[in-house]
Amino acid sequence: MVSYKDLGLVNTREMFAKAIKGGYAIPAFNFNNMEQLQAIVKAAVETKSPVILQVSKGARNYANQTLLRYMAEGAVEYAKELGCEKPQIVLHLDHGDSFELCKSCVDMGFSSVMIDGSHLPYEENVALTKKVVEYAHQYDVTVEGELGVLAGVEDEVSAEHHTYTNPEEVIDFATRTGCDSLAISIGTSHGAYKFKPEQCHVDPATGRLVPPPLAFEVLDAVMEKLPGFPIVLHGSSSVPQEYVDMINQYGGKLEAAIGIPEDELRKAAKSAVCKINIDSDSRLAMTAAVRKVFAEKPAEFDPRKYLGPAREEMEKLYKHKIINVLGSNDKL
Ligand code: G3H
Ligand code: 13P
Ligand code: ZN
Repeated sequence: MVSYKDLGLVNTREMFAKAIKGGYAIPAFNFNNMEQLQAIVKAAVETKSPVILQVSKGARNYANQTLLRYMAEGAVEYAKELGCEKPQIVLHLDHGDSFELCKSCVDMGFSSVMIDGSHLPYEENVALTKKVVEYAHQYDVTVEGELGVLAGVEDEVSAEHHTYTNPEEVIDFATRTGCDSLAISIGTSHGAYKFKPEQCHVDPATGRLVPPPLAFEVLDAVMEKLPGFPIVLHGSSSVPQEYVDMINQYGGKLEAAIGIPEDELRKAAKSAVCKINIDSDSRLAMTAAVRKVFAEKPAEFDPRKYLGPAREEMEKLYKHKIINVLGSNDKL
């Protein structure tokens, strides 16, 4: 048993309370490799932002769970080396799908876990989430539950259609499970194809596709039922057009990739939404930068020469999110 406290990590409790009070959201960035982690930590330190490092089940399978845990421990030391006296870093399991997986993360030093029972019948979701909470709270590890289903396809997460969170269920769910935060479904989805072109309209000024608005009325109803309760938004990548264009310019083929407009995320961040999950945008930044080097310098074969620019591009992206979208800068 490794306690996250011995690794210098923190859980989400105080972080979320401050974020709700301050009208900003904590960035939850997924990581699978060293370059992503370096970019996240550097961006968080240089903007003085708390940060959540998220590990999905797919990331654990890809990079090895033990190695990822040691990397997170290293992240705390790296942040200190970069000049941050008291880093506020959470190591979080993203989309945990079983009690055993959540337990194993708690046991190996995660400070926060998500149990995603959103695809289960309601009573099964309650029972599973409660079981995880009872275990995790013994070690002061915080737990995120989920109500409502997000559409989209990722390695380990997939659903055809949204089912918005039912605000009538949230009090019962939060009370019976004891979860510390709740992920809700209001129209975001995972991946780079969040909307079909036929769902969007064309902005006459830019010629770009504008997706339908998020269901803020559902968020408002949830906040009315659970005042001050920490709410989480998954699927919050904006799919920056410049990265999509860059990928396509340098030989990629991303067609009609559409994300969540940043002004909608800015609005959410000011509410009880205190954790915003971003993964796809970092994948796009990395891929765009790597493709550019491959296209412009075909003789290059030193991975540092393409992973380095990719790391710089991701750092730029993370800082932009922190400062211009979530507002979590200058909070340490
Ligand atoms: O919510 C999904 C995250 O973007 C993680 O994706 O399962 O492909 O690692 P992944
Ligand atoms: P994106 O695919 O929009 O980046 O969402 C990531 C996410 O929700 C991770 O849990
Ligand atoms: Zn997610």
